[in-house]
Amino acid sequence: MEVSLTVNGQDVSADIEPRMLLVHLLREELGLTGTHVGCETGYCGACTVHIDGQPVKSCTMLAIQAEGMNVTSIEGLKDGDLHPVQEGFWERHGLQCGYCTPGMIMSAAGMLAQNDNPSESEIKHGIEGNLCRCTGYHNIIKAIEYAASKMRGEEPAAPDWEVSV
Ligand code: FES
Ligand code: FES
Repeated sequence: MEVSLTVNGQDVSADIEPRMLLVHLLREELGLTGTHVGCETGYCGACTVHIDGQPVKSCTMLAIQAEGMNVTSIEGLKDGDLHPVQEGFWERHGLQCGYCTPGMIMSAAGMLAQNDNPSESEIKHGIEGNLCRCTGYHNIIKAIEYAASKMRGEEPAAPDWEVSV
């Protein structure tokens, strides 16, 4: 069956099996492999994209359910320069293996679009649907705080490793 939607600002259509998940449409039909597959059960968040601006786990939707919708994947997040969350992950070393990173960034960007001054507990709540097996989350939270500062037009706090004790 035919599905037509907008992905990263481009109108696309594909002839797909009705059972195809959105994450597989992105990766296999459109070649957008930045969206990762971890669990395919809605648990890990590696597949998170934005649909009409909201973070959604793309393994929890059939591709056909995205008919007519506006999907943004990690490949479409930056607008010329890196998105502040992408810059934050770079500047604050918010990743190790990087497998969770695209989904983590999409969730964080969605959260900051609603609230650019989140508390630490609000950040934790905002990424609780995204699992990371290697960072211990500390630098991920710092990366999101960095992005929030940038989005408010403020200078981010110095990184931990530059703060003298
Ligand atoms: S692959 Fe979608 S939540 Fe894990
Ligand atoms: S950086 Fe390895 S899973 Fe998160």
